Amino acid sequence: MIKVIVGAQWGDEGKGKMVDYFAAEADLVVRFQGGDNAGHTVANQYGVFKLHLIPCGIFYDGVYNLVGTGTVVNPDELLTELEQLKAAGLNTGRVKISDKAHIVMPYHVTLDGANEKGSGAIGTTKRGIGPAYSGKALRTNLRIEDLYDLEYCRARIEKSLPLLNAELAFYGADPINAGFLMEKCAEWARRLGGHFVNPVSFVHSYIDAGKNILFEGQLGVMKDIDLGIYPYVTSSHPVAAYAAVSTGFPARKIDEVVGVMKAFSSAVGAGPFPTEMNSDDARALRGSGEQIDDEFGARTGRARRIGWPDLAVARYAHLVNGFTGLAVSKIDKLDTLKAFKVCTAYELDGEKLDYMPSSKDLYRVKPVYTTVKGWLSDTRGCSSIAALPAAARDYIALIERVVGCPVKYVGVGPDRKDILL
Ligand code: GDP
Ligand code: IMO
Ligand code: MG
Repeated sequence: MIKVIVGAQWGDEGKGKMVDYFAAEADLVVRFQGGDNAGHTVANQYGVFKLHLIPCGIFYDGVYNLVGTGTVVNPDELLTELEQLKAAGLNTGRVKISDKAHIVMPYHVTLDGANEKGSGAIGTTKRGIGPAYSGKALRTNLRIEDLYDLEYCRARIEKSLPLLNAELAFYGADPINAGFLMEKCAEWARRLGGHFVNPVSFVHSYIDAGKNILFEGQLGVMKDIDLGIYPYVTSSHPVAAYAAVSTGFPARKIDEVVGVMKAFSSAVGAGPFPTEMNSDDARALRGSGEQIDDEFGARTGRARRIGWPDLAVARYAHLVNGFTGLAVSKIDKLDTLKAFKVCTAYELDGEKLDYMPSSKDLYRVKPVYTTVKGWLSDTRGCSSIAALPAAARDYIALIERVVGCPVKYVGVGPDRKDILL
């Protein structure tokens, strides 16, 4: 059984919590794209964690966790995360790293930061993600498997350094020295080597044995480099089919695709956000940053932009992912609203759109809103979706109708146990 969990909006929908929940039934969890730009919050009996690279299946003893080929891996960040999880008493021996994944080098991080200075910034996480995927496309990167052969690493580094140093000089940054990078490579090989696997045969051994595999996406469809709000996107594909493409198995083997959507909207970084609320409306939903579920970036700590629920986005997410079910998180955050607006479509120049427009046009669209009555009661104690207040069920029925997909899970709190079926 292969299940893929992806974001149905702009990221931070609550994927981490759902992966932690579904991992109870999994044999293997695979993070299939992105890097340590992610912040996936998990709250369970071990505490509260914000995972960046390591899959959220780490909390179960019998589950293996693969950092997949479609990811870009900053080995220093991975080592830090492994240490933190070990210190929390978790078994990190079951973390595997695809030896075909690309390495985020220190210069990728420098270039990301430098590129974000000045006008036209995308608002990246400055984790080197764009430069690392650029290096992949340019074919100048090192992959994890290169660490098996340090002399090969040296040759690759020496070949790419002149151009990289010219680029760094353009930004006024210090040049990199091959010796420093070689020391890093040797350290990474020594400390992480035991985690490396050939990903295709590793994952196929699970598929052949009929095991349960869970794929964990990062971000959401609106930040996909092809399908999202280019150029305000990430540099990978947070959509379900990419789990198959990057891992190397036929896409038709995917059995379930769960789209995770927040009951309202949030986004981090620049770019169009049609249902964005004004700051007064947004403040209450965002919180102050003290609670684990306040709307501040789990990676960068930036205040998230907040918007009314946008079902035009969720419908688009379903169109490109083919969800078998939706998981709607944070219904509880709407408990105190008398009423709220829900966008069901966009209009542009007076015409209702039946497609997702370009970023330039998304700045101009007019959301078509319908008003939903609030339920003004505490949903946290509810035992199932059927036991939610009638108005909350009406909102869920509206989501199902507009998106065209059943809502199978509803979140009423940040903890693993706060999931209604
Ligand atoms: P991810 O990147 O998709 O894993 O999501 P993040 O962890 O970045 O952001 C989701 C936030 O919502 C985190 O603070 C979670 O603790 C919180 N959260 C997830 N589901 C729920 C829910 O159903 N109710 C509440 N109140 N918080 C939730
Ligand atoms: P999770 O997995 C929210 C945003 C950045 C920026 C754009 C590109 O926790 O949902 P990048 O560093 O990837 O080059 O930045 O994408 N971004 C995220 N926003 N959640 C994330 O991850 C994000 N990862 C990147 O803010 O707009
Ligand atoms: Mg997040």
